Amino acid sequence: MTKNKKVVFAGATLLLMVWCTKGYWTSDGNGRERVRDRLSMAYNDDRGGAIPVNLSPEAQAAFEQRERIINALKLEISQLERGCPKKKLEKYSLLPKIYAITPTYKRPVQKAELTRLSHTLMLVPNLHWVIVEDAEKKSELVANLLARTGMPYTHLHAVTPATWKIKPKEAWYNKPRGVLQRNAALAWLRANVKPDEEGVVYFADDDNAYSLEVFDEMRYVKTVGVWPVGLVGGLMVERPKVNAEGKVVGWLTVWSPNRPFAIDMAGFAVNLKLFMSKPEGKFKNEVQKGYQESEFLRHFVTSLDEVEPRADNCTKVNVWHTRTENPPLREEIRLKKEAKPPSDLGIEV
Ligand code: UGA
Ligand code: MN
Repeated sequence: MTKNKKVVFAGATLLLMVWCTKGYWTSDGNGRERVRDRLSMAYNDDRGGAIPVNLSPEAQAAFEQRERIINALKLEISQLERGCPKKKLEKYSLLPKIYAITPTYKRPVQKAELTRLSHTLMLVPNLHWVIVEDAEKKSELVANLLARTGMPYTHLHAVTPATWKIKPKEAWYNKPRGVLQRNAALAWLRANVKPDEEGVVYFADDDNAYSLEVFDEMRYVKTVGVWPVGLVGGLMVERPKVNAEGKVVGWLTVWSPNRPFAIDMAGFAVNLKLFMSKPEGKFKNEVQKGYQESEFLRHFVTSLDEVEPRADNCTKVNVWHTRTENPPLREEIRLKKEAKPPSDLGIEV
């Protein structure tokens, strides 16, 4: 069987299973509504949520068994889709789509960062990359890099005005970064995504390190999914605080822990339909330091109760807020002073 056929076969099996078991579960007269709700969650969400209450031991065992099979099939579809041609998947994938938004700007390490990030994203099935350059116009460097990935993408630009740009001697944390670029991507999504499309929105900065698992974790999020982020906020890890019932009840952070959502941009994803239903949800330059995430998320969830903990109840780190050193280019500066040609004359680095 070809890869494409296998994907279709696994998907058809999954749909058939869901359809076959549905009648059995919903015809159970005891607590029917609750079971149906739980099931509709389980059909859509393989990891979140608790096991239904008040079921007979046999019904419970059957429920768990069915969940295990659905999970295994979803995993199999992800793995099969990983090997499929990206362009085809855009049309035929059975997985909810991940829209990953990346602001980026010109600097010596830009190509290295984008190469590393693109080589991760290329391994993620059914992901559409929205990349927004902080520049007056789109660059050849980014356009060529995107074309080489063979993956579905949208290339935009939106320039940060000088008043909001960090000055050469200014501390990097003095002004927010990526605000107008993310908003340009959000406007593109609102204009181009079909309202009934299944998926999630995720902000993937160009300098972080991502495990493929973070994408598996976010794909089935129904509201706002959250998880730990490594190497951020002056800590080894910042993470959502999850209670014994599997509910998010706060944030395990040291820096500014009273923020409504004390979480880094890399630590959450928003369901696509929920995103599309709240056109006001965007970022703002004029917010307190560290409040970008809270400013955005307040539009989508009003209490922590609605937030979905992922990554095994927020016990696993699948993304790191790595920051790349600005390479010391002293010899390059010397060449310039001596009116000699730069080392990268005629070569893209
Ligand atoms: C932290 C968060 O991880 C960011 O997501 C958040 O935007 C930032 O705080 C904030 O408070 O504004 P940090 O790692 O220090 O950020 O930010 P950067 O990685 O320097 O920038 C975030 C993104 O914006 C990156 O993808 C970067 O390429 C882009 N950026 C940065 C621009 O598009 N223009 C700039 O002038 C600077
Ligand atoms: Mn960063």
